[in-house]
Amino acid sequence: MLSYTSINNKYPAEQVAFAERVKKYNITELGKTPKACVITYGCQQNVSDSQRLKGMLILMGYEICEEENKADFIIFNTCAVRGHAEDRVWGNVGATKSLKKVNPKLIVAVCGCMVQQQSVADRFRESYPYVDIVFGTQVFHRLPEFIYKRITGGKRVYELSLENREIVEDIPIDRENRFKGYIPIMYGCDNFCSYCIVPYVRGRERSRDANEIVCEAKRMVDEGYKEIMLLGQNVNSYGKGNDDGINFAKLIRMINDIEGDFRIRFMTSHPKDLTEELIFAIRDCQKVERHLHLPFQSGNDRVLKVMNRRYSREKYLSLIELAKKEIPDISFTSDIIVGFPGETYEEFKDTLSLVEKVEYSSLFTFIYSPREGTPAATMPDPISRAEKGKWFDELLRTQDKISKRLNKEAVGKTVRVLFEEESPEEGYIIGKSSGTYNIYVSADKSLIGSFAEVKITEYKNVLYGTLI
Ligand code: 5AD
Ligand code: SF4
Repeated sequence: MLSYTSINNKYPAEQVAFAERVKKYNITELGKTPKACVITYGCQQNVSDSQRLKGMLILMGYEICEEENKADFIIFNTCAVRGHAEDRVWGNVGATKSLKKVNPKLIVAVCGCMVQQQSVADRFRESYPYVDIVFGTQVFHRLPEFIYKRITGGKRVYELSLENREIVEDIPIDRENRFKGYIPIMYGCDNFCSYCIVPYVRGRERSRDANEIVCEAKRMVDEGYKEIMLLGQNVNSYGKGNDDGINFAKLIRMINDIEGDFRIRFMTSHPKDLTEELIFAIRDCQKVERHLHLPFQSGNDRVLKVMNRRYSREKYLSLIELAKKEIPDISFTSDIIVGFPGETYEEFKDTLSLVEKVEYSSLFTFIYSPREGTPAATMPDPISRAEKGKWFDELLRTQDKISKRLNKEAVGKTVRVLFEEESPEEGYIIGKSSGTYNIYVSADKSLIGSFAEVKITEYKNVLYGTLI
């Protein structure tokens, strides 16, 4: 599993010392190489955090495994964005109770956005006595300390402080993939969209130092990485609060200047912070993919206002126009919420018309889920779940037609792809274009992890192409 770990001198020495002690303790106490299982819910930020959890576990001498019933340490890295993800966590954490009966030395930890809510942390404390360690989003670099304290007989660990504005660099990492990797560039969110829990559980926006980011990107390119995904809750407000004057547009120009054949992706962008300067930077930087994930959430101005999104439908469409004009081969994706409290069917139709107007290559669609503590959770919400489900299906059907049309129009084009994985269909590998086409190509799997020019030849549920 281990593809890459790195440790430089900025990861706190005391955590390295705790890691050493955990390693020694486990060897003496367990008499074998201990195994650790990391279970991740939610967004790319969480996936990226989990790669660091794995890196720290490897530093502590654990072997990473996929099966919970073989593990000596299990950690759940949770998501709080919607209720559904939380329900799965309660069930899966509950199941560790019986695993502990078989393996009494098993340590169970829960971290991430969900536990950062007081009511959730309280429920773990009171009703889940077999959960040993609970910690929040801003202290996860202290995992070695938490494990050490618990295995050496300490109390159950609860560490949920959100005051930590400092960014800890050089946490060991297991990137898991040898050619695609994430680089978080900023943490937290200051936007307080009225439906969203993220600002409460990930704290205020903090941007990493541009030099740290560029160094990490350089190191990855040197190691052969072909795709770097820059991550943040709102990447285009990158740099706010730093005093070097480097904003997101400047940052991607700096990364684009790194020598080597690789591509740069980023998410998520907030329309209110998408500037002309950034659109021009994407246009000019040939390593930046010709794609924007630009969530609009709702196509109706009244709903956008109550959502506290701070842009109008017209402003959003003008940004799309500008991006299409400056970057002719650009493609778009978006997040959409259906059934926000008080949304009417007429208002929802504005979302449908916006989807038709922009022509997204694909969408991430969600039925509104009330999140305790957010303003929207107290707003009247008269539309039934069943009715919202119908609207949701209508949105999916609308998008399906658009995706099919765009895919048909792609036949005949030549695109550069990065081969990413084997396809479920025997003999094919899947290449991803700089936009969002997934192209099935009959080629040897040794090409996975490299770029190639592909001609798109056919659309039959998926796109097929041939190597040029
Ligand atoms: N209900 C439904 N969807 C939500 N999102 C965020 N909060 C909620 C919620 N309470 C969606 C938004 C966001 C994406 C990551 O999740 O569309 O862009
Ligand atoms: Fe949530 Fe809005 Fe911040 Fe995105 S920008 S994380 S939707 S509050």
